[in-house]
Amino acid sequence: MVGKSLVSIDDYSKEDYLKILELSAKYEKNPKQNILQGYVIATLFFEPSTRTRLSFESAVNQLGGRIIGFSDSGTTSASKGETLSDAIRIVSNYSDLIVMRHPVEGSARWASEMATVPIINAGDGANQHPTQTLLDMYSIKKTQGTLEGLEIFMVGDLKYGRTVHSLLMAMSKFKTTFHFISPDELKMPDEYKQHLDALGLKYHEHKDFTDIIAEADILYMTRVQKERFSDPIEYERVKNVYILKNEMLENTKKNLKVLHPLPRVNEITVDVDENKKAYYFTQARNGVYARQAIITSILGLNK
Ligand code: CP
Repeated sequence: MVGKSLVSIDDYSKEDYLKILELSAKYEKNPKQNILQGYVIATLFFEPSTRTRLSFESAVNQLGGRIIGFSDSGTTSASKGETLSDAIRIVSNYSDLIVMRHPVEGSARWASEMATVPIINAGDGANQHPTQTLLDMYSIKKTQGTLEGLEIFMVGDLKYGRTVHSLLMAMSKFKTTFHFISPDELKMPDEYKQHLDALGLKYHEHKDFTDIIAEADILYMTRVQKERFSDPIEYERVKNVYILKNEMLENTKKNLKVLHPLPRVNEITVDVDENKKAYYFTQARNGVYARQAIITSILGLNK
């Protein structure tokens, strides 16, 4: 991990995941330390974000580091036509590590080839969101006591949802049984199902989850990614297909936790928020600790 970019969740091994989760627990106990004093972290967000950017920035601030960057690329020389490659070369001169979100799939890999400092992918189009996955895994481990052999239900936009793509790749190392619940238009792409086939892992595709929710350990709800649709009529057709309501959680497993990378639009009604099985707000808080673990591991600061 030391000195290396984190572009895809596959850049890390199972042992790396476990190391990050162990460190996340340490940072959760003691999030305010001076480990990053003297370090400058750049956060370059070419796409909107609340949780990812602010939890990265909070993670760095709490560890005594400094942040430079932008949340609106319209205020940068990208608006004058500067290429991503040039921008990354320049920001490499100003920082020890770059956190980047960009709408184009593959942009983070490209940036990691141009940069002279490590790049952390904070989401590249519909492709990957590896730091979200590590905080999701931390949330799963904390609530289930294990990562092995769980029944994970992924609901909603499985085509454009980068969080489910990364999570599937990581959890496929832990004998997970997957359930994919989506409309035909938003099915899990074949490449991910082929990956599970190659590993001999079970997955099931469903049109609805009301009758099968009782089997779930983790219900991972997702937003339909409006910004990825080229046809607004298609978005209108699928945007309200799955809505989790509080009464649907009756007769579910005791250990069930509802996760959501957030933001939500209307796929979870607000009455679910008070249910003990709703975990998405704590999940977002876990992002600070997981990102502290990731940053300090890449910078080689954990002894
Ligand atoms: N989960 C997540 O990526 O949220 P933001 O888009 O607010 O960063």
